[in-house]
Amino acid sequence: MARKKIALIGGGQIGGVLAQLAAQKELGDIILFDIVEDMPQGKTLDIAEASRVDGFDVKLNGTNSYEDIKDADVVIVTAGLPRKPGMSRDDLLTTNAKIMKSVAEGVRDNAPNAFCIIISNPLDAMVTLFQKVTGFPHEKVMGQAGVLDSSRFSTFIAWELGVSVKDVNAMVLGGHGDTMVPLVRYANVNGVPVMEMLERKYGDTNIAKEVMDAMVQRTKLAGGEVVKLLKTGSAFYSPASSAIAMAKSILRDEKRVLPTCAYLKGEFNVDGYYVGVPAVLGENGVERIIELSLNAEEQSQLDNSITAVKGLVVDMDRLGF
Ligand code: APR
Repeated sequence: MARKKIALIGGGQIGGVLAQLAAQKELGDIILFDIVEDMPQGKTLDIAEASRVDGFDVKLNGTNSYEDIKDADVVIVTAGLPRKPGMSRDDLLTTNAKIMKSVAEGVRDNAPNAFCIIISNPLDAMVTLFQKVTGFPHEKVMGQAGVLDSSRFSTFIAWELGVSVKDVNAMVLGGHGDTMVPLVRYANVNGVPVMEMLERKYGDTNIAKEVMDAMVQRTKLAGGEVVKLLKTGSAFYSPASSAIAMAKSILRDEKRVLPTCAYLKGEFNVDGYYVGVPAVLGENGVERIIELSLNAEEQSQLDNSITAVKGLVVDMDRLGF
């Protein structure tokens, strides 16, 4: 059986970490594409030179030509500008839509059978555009946002409760913007509701609620918190790790249930939009959407988030993409 091939479009901060993680996990041979000459070649050479010490054995190449991504099994897209301090993800729309259109054409023409994971922001709009330009089946085109947002939420919960993050299960639904929906009611530590643990810790329902609200708020603004500290770019380690978890689930048919920006056909009362929801990722891409019952408040937050996603799609149409 041929080795799997992973094409990474965009060799910047996230692209470089993606290449290193994919190599270390031996997900397949790796091709790193960027429009900047020599840079992807330099990064992949650098990573390859760690293969002996890290003990991985895959081919790593950098390129400036789309022909080299031919027959890729998985494509992960990070091409596009990251945020600067004070910018929202949506401020990137026009610039990144132009880039995404050209990337989608390159992938469509050279890797027509690939499963595609988009990371570039504004995420929900970029996934929509990529699918529209490629015409690939919806279940083969998805976005990475929820795995990261959920990991951020879980991390804050673990810190607050003083428990291992490995035992925290918390999920974030909706768009990848400030309207995302961290699901408080479903958050648990090995089955024990987080709210119950907070109430026991503080002995006061109102304080527990305030602490949770603060964690929810920090989760929603977590990307901006990193941008503010970095000053010259946005988060890159955690988005890369998150997309690799998705790619691995597809390439190895793990059927993990991961919050994915997936195309909905009526699930969660949404028809015809990409929105962050729990999905089973396996050898067929997005194999199934896991629906869960939402109370009125959660549904209204999700509806609010979907309205924001729809707004971005309308803006993109208006701009002619
Ligand atoms: N085709 C391919 N690559 C491109 C193109 C293009 N048309 N235009 C720009 N790039 C490349 C840049 O040369 C750069 O190397 O995309 C790369 C982006 O890398 P960074 O600027 O380091 O950004 P990064 O932090 O990796 O984030 C990329 O992901 O999370 C999102 O908001 C973030 O939209 C941003 C994207």
